[in-house]
Parts: sequence; C-alpha cells; structure tokens
Amino acid sequence: MLLAFALHPLTFILTHYPFNPCLLKCAMRVRPCSDDDLPTIHAIQLKCPQAAQWRLEDYTQLARDPLGTILVAEADDEYPPRVAGFAAFHRATDEAELRNMAVDASHQRRGIARALLAAGIRALQSSGVSRLFLEVRASNQPALALYASAGFNVLHTRRDYYHDPAEDALVMARDINPSPFSPSRKK
Ligand SMILES: CC(C)(COP(=O)(O)OP(=O)(O)OC[C@H]1O[C@@H](n2cnc3c(N)ncnc32)[C@H](O)[C@@H]1OP(=O)(O)O)[C@@H](O)C(=O)NCCC(=O)NCCS
Repeated sequence: MLLAFALHPLTFILTHYPFNPCLLKCAMRVRPCSDDDLPTIHAIQLKCPQAAQWRLEDYTQLARDPLGTILVAEADDEYPPRVAGFAAFHRATDEAELRNMAVDASHQRRGIARALLAAGIRALQSSGVSRLFLEVRASNQPALALYASAGFNVLHTRRDYYHDPAEDALVMARDINPSPFSPSRKK
C-alpha cells in the first residue's frame, strides 16, 4: 500500500497541494492514508455519530480498491503529528462520491475538512472526474454549511434514507473541471 502511494503520481499533487495559508486555521498536511492510519480513522469515525458508521474492514476494502481514495489530514500542533481527520472517495468513470468524512472533535473548525475536500477534488480532477456527489443527513448543519461553502448544491431528497435515527438524506453534487493534465481528457 505504501509502495503504491509512493509510486502513485497523485502523491506529489497531494503532499504538495498549494494551500492558501490564509485559509488554514492550523498547520496541517493532507496525504493519502496508509494501512497504519486505518484504525485511527475508524476511531475518529466512531466518535462522530453523524459520519457513516463503517467497519474497519470497509476502510481496508476501499483503500485497496484502485478506484478508492482515502485522504488523511495530520495536524502539526502535536509531535509526532497526529491524524485528525479523513475523507473517503470512490470514483466511477467521470463521476465520484464522497463516501465518508470526519474530523476529530478536538480539531474541528480549523479548516481541516475544507482542506481534505480541496485536496480530494484536485486528486479526482487529475483522474478525469468531472462531478462529485455526496449524501448527508438533512439535520447535519455543520456538514451542510461546509458543503454549501465548497460549492455543492442540493439535487434531491431521499426520504427516510437513514436509520437509527430515521432521517432524510440530501443528495448534493458539484461540478469539478477535469485537470488539463487528466489522462482521460480529450484534446
Ligand atoms: C462536518 C465536519 C467534517 C467539518 O469539519 P471541520 O474540519 O470542523 O470543518 P472546517 O473547519 O473545514 O469548516 C469549513 C466550513 O464548514 C462550515 N462549518 C464547519 N463546522 C461548522 C459548524 N459546527 N457550524 C456551522 N458551520 C460549520 C463553515 O462554513 C466552515 O467555514 P468557517 O469556519 O470559515 O466558517 C465535522 O464537523 C465533522 O467531522 N462532523 C461529524 C462527521 C460528519 O458530519 N461528517 C459528514 C458526513 S456527510
């Protein structure tokens, strides 16, 4: 897995993502996850009931899927730096889905989710993805505010989509222009 990331051309894009420092409220690094990160991101998810509640094996499976991308954000306010949040994406042809995302409560509201989304979008653009979808609980105001500020629009509502507790899902999407360097982009 580590070797795969070391060889993957997106690694450079992600680790050298040109963040505007003015937008960041804490020093952080966004990078692809390694197998060693999976228990940590699962633990973050377990502490966030609004996140999709996956088993550890679900992360392992997505990390091994060539169409899956899991990014982690390391906050640099601790030594050694600690994984403080993650975002999990899956792509299919020119569309992709944000499957899950959570930031540890102690690191929320510092721009970590915004940075994870931005890095994920850049990675997906480089893979030729032109549209990103997601589903979110209708009551999840922090996530809705994040997605609206990141350019997502509500497409439709899925009635009683969620259980425990039962709730509607809002399906949101935004266009992402494929990178001019995308392998699938036609001249
Ligand atoms: C939603 C979540 C991922 C946001 O993570 P975060 O790192 O705190 O978000 P950011 O600091 O990057 O915030 C970016 C923007 O999102 C919005 N936002 C984030 N948290 C918010 C909150 N509690 N209330 C209102 N708006 C919020 C704001 O517009 C914010 O920009 P601002 O701080 O400049 O006002 C985090 O609250 C979380 O992990 N929630 C539990 C899991 C979850 O809901 N996952 C999403 C499932 S679809």
